[in-house]
Amino acid sequence: MERSEKQNLIRTRGLKRTFKARGRAREKDVEAVKGVDLDVFQGEIVGFLGPNGAGKSTTLKMLCTLLEPSGGTATIVGADLRKNPDEVKRHIGYISQNGSTSSAARAGDELIWHGELHGMSRAQAREKSRNLLKALDLEDVWEQTCGTLSGGQRRRLDIVMGLIHEPALVFMDEPTTGLDPQARTNLWGHIRRLRDELGTTVFLTTHYMDEADALCDRVFIIDHGEIVGEGSPKELKRAISGDTIRLTMRNGADTRAAVELGSSLGTATPVQLGNVVTIQVPEGASALPEIISALNKKNIEAIGIEMAQPTLNDVFLGLTGRSLRD
Ligand SMILES: Nc1ncnc2c1ncn2[C@@H]1O[C@H](COP(=O)(O)OP(=O)(O)OP(=O)(O)O)[C@@H](O)[C@H]1O
Ligand SMILES: [Mg+2]
Repeated sequence: MERSEKQNLIRTRGLKRTFKARGRAREKDVEAVKGVDLDVFQGEIVGFLGPNGAGKSTTLKMLCTLLEPSGGTATIVGADLRKNPDEVKRHIGYISQNGSTSSAARAGDELIWHGELHGMSRAQAREKSRNLLKALDLEDVWEQTCGTLSGGQRRRLDIVMGLIHEPALVFMDEPTTGLDPQARTNLWGHIRRLRDELGTTVFLTTHYMDEADALCDRVFIIDHGEIVGEGSPKELKRAISGDTIRLTMRNGADTRAAVELGSSLGTATPVQLGNVVTIQVPEGASALPEIISALNKKNIEAIGIEMAQPTLNDVFLGLTGRSLRD
């Protein structure tokens, strides 16, 4: 299905939030979110990527009806966020940055209470929970107290809670923060399965660029309360710097031929250092075979070929002049 035919589950225009400065009169109000436009479509995993304090959680809380916007409009799963927040709540799940299970409670009890909160009978809540626990590889935790679960298990239990009423759209605030690398990768797999098997649309915040890159179909980059970039990780990386292809040639004549070829195929003048020629291309995967076959036609062979791809950190650097890690 083309994106235009798919349902638009999040649509915001000029959404903003200002926090009043407390204390001294000279302190300025904090413009945490300065008017963001977001479109998220059914079946997407969308990442909201930005450094600490960028406005990610504030935006997410507004979209979940937990925080009143100071301005702008938003439609969530077809319902107007400001006029019809109760309707919005019925269609969304929210997994907060800090989790929501009580350490002393049994996992099964937490789930049943949560289901009842959404108007289910105990039997319905039990059945729904069992199915979701299975989908998230948590079949054996029912009797366990939440405090004894591993970090990754507890995070997945949070997700089960957020999904118990079968929302079309689920918001996850920093779902993998605090997890070890293996548990993070494992959770990415589970989030993809939610999308693929249940058709759930996922909007998540993260300050990990590798997470945005590996998991998200599309990314919005936010900095100082403003969206500074938007696209699939691939598009974002391609638009900023393209790929670099580095050819090591056998002799001076071959090197000159490679430079000539690079001038016609590359996006910038090729850089030559000794017998090494560096060519900037929009997309290495398609340019590389083209370069090799063009050289072959002239009976020239490169003795070394390297391709380097930009990362989302390079994208952030290009957009803001800072590294996301700073
Ligand atoms: N209740 C509040 N009162 C005053 N300022 C706030 C409040 N909540 C957030 N802020 C400020 O708004 C800005 C954005 O905060 P927010 O929590 O949205 O950032 P974030 O992108 O989620 O950061 P993190 O990666 O650290 O979770 C920050 O400057 C923060 O200090
Ligand atoms: Mg946050």
